[in-house]
Amino acid sequence: MTLDAIATSGRTPAGPPRNRHYLMCRPTYFTVEYAINPWMDPAAPIDTALALRQWETLRQTYLDLGHTVDEIEPLPGLPDMVFAANGATVLDGRALAVQFRDPERADEAPAYAGWLDRAGFEVHEAKHVNEGEGDILPVGGLLLAGTGFRTSHAAHAHLQEVFGRPVITLQLVDPRFYHLDTALCVLDDTTVAYLPVAFSPGSRAVLRRLFPDAVLATMADAEVLGLNAVSDGRHVVLPAQATGLSAALRERGYDTIGVDLSELRKAGGGPKCCTLVLREREATK
Ligand code: ARG
Repeated sequence: MTLDAIATSGRTPAGPPRNRHYLMCRPTYFTVEYAINPWMDPAAPIDTALALRQWETLRQTYLDLGHTVDEIEPLPGLPDMVFAANGATVLDGRALAVQFRDPERADEAPAYAGWLDRAGFEVHEAKHVNEGEGDILPVGGLLLAGTGFRTSHAAHAHLQEVFGRPVITLQLVDPRFYHLDTALCVLDDTTVAYLPVAFSPGSRAVLRRLFPDAVLATMADAEVLGLNAVSDGRHVVLPAQATGLSAALRERGYDTIGVDLSELRKAGGGPKCCTLVLREREATK
């Protein structure tokens, strides 16, 4: 998929679903004991058992859709490790390891890199702050890369070297939508959904140019982390509370499946945050 092809592709109905391979981390040690984004309040009560049940529903949803789910062992003292999307960026059988902005999450990085290495992925070391698929989203042949809060701009250049794909820098401006995957969701190879006001004016113009037929989300949907959704090209798993977005996606021909991750949202995470997509090398490339 080229830039031109993306820019000129029309309003395409949802295509066939793709079988996905996901990595997830059970929220055994989940809690909110520090605040590194505006959603987190260490004084608010957290029900870890409820978080576990909600997470299990998400995992079962993927299995019911026919996807493969691997699990990485959760580590005590790393309450945010459940957010596997921040563990790496994995594409073409290659993984770029992460480097967290905040010291509270630093020890997650080697755990994920080690798992990916043992699973046979070619792991590249991080050189700059980058929080994996939280900020880096492949779409078609491109990589959309967020910056402004977590992943540094310098990491975008490194990303392009590692994967040999054009990187599109997107500037995030609202601290509630601190990772790209809280403000934009990739629906298939040519379509995204996003919250325009979460981006700088220049980045908004870039998004309009690349995705003239994007689904534009409302603040009401973004505020329940509705854009933190996982699509296989046909089925979109999203927070149950994002009813407007769900209706808009259904109108476009996607099947939506709402899941309630309210307990994990207290840490600023939704379905996508809990899900790292493992993309193996494709035979025909
Ligand atoms: N508490 C975590 C943090 O602030 C939440 C991470 C959410 N992950 C994501 N992919 N958006 O780092």
